[in-house]
Amino acid sequence: MPGPDRGPLLYAWRGAFTDPELSSLHAEGFGHQLEQTGWNHQLDSNSLGWVTARDDRGLVGFVAIAWDGRAHAFVEDTLVAVRSRRQGVGVHLIEVARDHAARAGCEWLHVDFEEHLKSFYLDACGFVPTDAGLMRLSGGAAQVGSTSSTPLSPSGPGPRTGHPSPGHERLWDEPTGQDGQMEQLRSLIARRTVRSFLDEDVPVSVVRQLVDQARWTGSARNRQPWRFVAVYDQATRAGLAGLGAYAAHLATAPVVVVLLSPRERHLDTEFDAGRIAQSLTLAAASAGLGSCVTSLYPEENADTAATVVGAEPGWSARHAVALGRPDSSSPVGRLAIPTGRRSTDELLSIR
Ligand SMILES: Cc1cc2nc3c(=O)[nH]c(=O)nc-3n(C[C@H](O)[C@H](O)[C@H](O)COP(=O)(O)O)c2cc1C
Repeated sequence: MPGPDRGPLLYAWRGAFTDPELSSLHAEGFGHQLEQTGWNHQLDSNSLGWVTARDDRGLVGFVAIAWDGRAHAFVEDTLVAVRSRRQGVGVHLIEVARDHAARAGCEWLHVDFEEHLKSFYLDACGFVPTDAGLMRLSGGAAQVGSTSSTPLSPSGPGPRTGHPSPGHERLWDEPTGQDGQMEQLRSLIARRTVRSFLDEDVPVSVVRQLVDQARWTGSARNRQPWRFVAVYDQATRAGLAGLGAYAAHLATAPVVVVLLSPRERHLDTEFDAGRIAQSLTLAAASAGLGSCVTSLYPEENADTAATVVGAEPGWSARHAVALGRPDSSSPVGRLAIPTGRRSTDELLSIR
């Protein structure tokens, strides 16, 4: 526990820090000269998140979590200030990081460490030993090695280029990489629709988290004309799959979130529904889940779908969102639909 003069330690997922304070903790932790690094930009763009620990004198603990955008998260740069060591700070940093990685839908947390940290990671933090490999890619000829003796720094999710699958007609251009936050946003927005999913549960807690994020979407007159029903039941999903012309994947997705909107529409209701669907799919993408917005039509089918999922009278289910871990062995997209997007020049006029 921290000394009485330093107050209680506060841990925060994605907690605020300044670049100089993390640079100084890094230099202290790894015993190198102080270097000024743009940590905030780097981590914001490339990591799932990080955990900060603070006492009332400043940053005393830090760990970053990189990820592959899907099931695997990686511990990087676990740091505890000398003044706060041997108080369980490192273990708690890892616990907080583990819980948030799990909440984001990751299934595995990896760590690579030096020999003297074995007991910390295996005994105190609960990692199990594995075989691992490491290859040096810079600072000398490429070498193949066994478990590293230096901290491994896996990069975060690289640009997802969204190349069309073989057999797809490409009429428009495909996303190309750019740097930083813009690239991260673009890669979320440009994420391809997913209709084939792995046979893995999407926990209710994750669906709750997605809805919790999406519900902040603005709507005309703040009506929030939406409700959500998460459908896990196989028979119900199979029933929904028959209520749209291109909805077969609803039967095979681990969970389908049915979007309800009022039967009696205002002018902006469809617009609002589109915005909430977009927010939900972006939240899903940032949690490593694939999604497919799916139309339930004609109008009678949308009403039937609302009844099937037990909606109160007055609500209609015009769209549903299939969610799950993408099955990357299946082709992305529908063969009949061209891929890519129209160019900015074609879409934007400046007067
Ligand atoms: C409002 C809306 C309705 C959609 N309805 C369906 C649908 O019923 N079935 C389907 O398989 N995909 C549906 N999609 C997914 C689109 O086909 C997909 O977003 C589009 O073809 C772009 O494909 P890409 O994400 O692979 O680039 C829908 C998308 C939107 C935004």
